[in-house]
Amino acid sequence: MAAAWVTVGLLDPGDVVAVAQCIVIDAEAFPYPSGPFGSSHPSLLAWVARESADGRVLGFAAGQARGGVVYLQGLAVDRSHHRRGVGRGLVREVLRSARLAGVHTVSLHVSVANRAAIGLYGSEGFRAVRRLRDFYSATAFDGERDALEMIIHLGERALAVN
Ligand SMILES: CC(C)(COP(=O)(O)OP(=O)(O)OC[C@H]1O[C@@H](n2cnc3c(N)ncnc32)[C@H](O)[C@@H]1OP(=O)(O)O)[C@@H](O)C(=O)NCCC(=O)NCCS
Repeated sequence: MAAAWVTVGLLDPGDVVAVAQCIVIDAEAFPYPSGPFGSSHPSLLAWVARESADGRVLGFAAGQARGGVVYLQGLAVDRSHHRRGVGRGLVREVLRSARLAGVHTVSLHVSVANRAAIGLYGSEGFRAVRRLRDFYSATAFDGERDALEMIIHLGERALAVN
């Protein structure tokens, strides 16, 4: 659960202010867009962490649901709020709502150079299942092109937690 000053929940694609705030955070974090935040397609999901006091978006998680699997295609937190538990709150909300929806697996790719994200996912129960060579373009992450594929099987995690 996120701290009291943060509220985490699904993004309403019609909330154009929140959508715009997600796009700004996304553009600062990644060399490519994480998702069509304004889309209302049922398989495209986005969660946002907001400042409880004023509703400002502090971070997002964007995913795609298909056949019992959620692919987490982007997670980013506004730089001025890093290392305050916002990313962890988002990951936990993704896993919580995936379990409620009967999703069996959440998967993602992360640059092998991204120690912060790998640490976060690992501490929430994801494990690295393979390394993909040259997954990213040469310009994406300071020349580091390899990705880790990480997954969590929610049945396993649910057993571990309870
Ligand atoms: C990765 C990211 C989302 C983490 O968000 P955050 O809100 O700063 O993370 P949290 O404060 O919830 O930290 C959770 C855990 O992540 C790890 N972590 C986060 N930042 C870290 C850092 N700079 N160095 C090492 N570990 C770090 C730690 O395990 C941390 O737990 P701890 O604080 O108890 O040690 C954020 O750094 C970010 O937006 N990065 C740019 C975008 C990105 O790389 N996204 C992931 C792509 S797959």
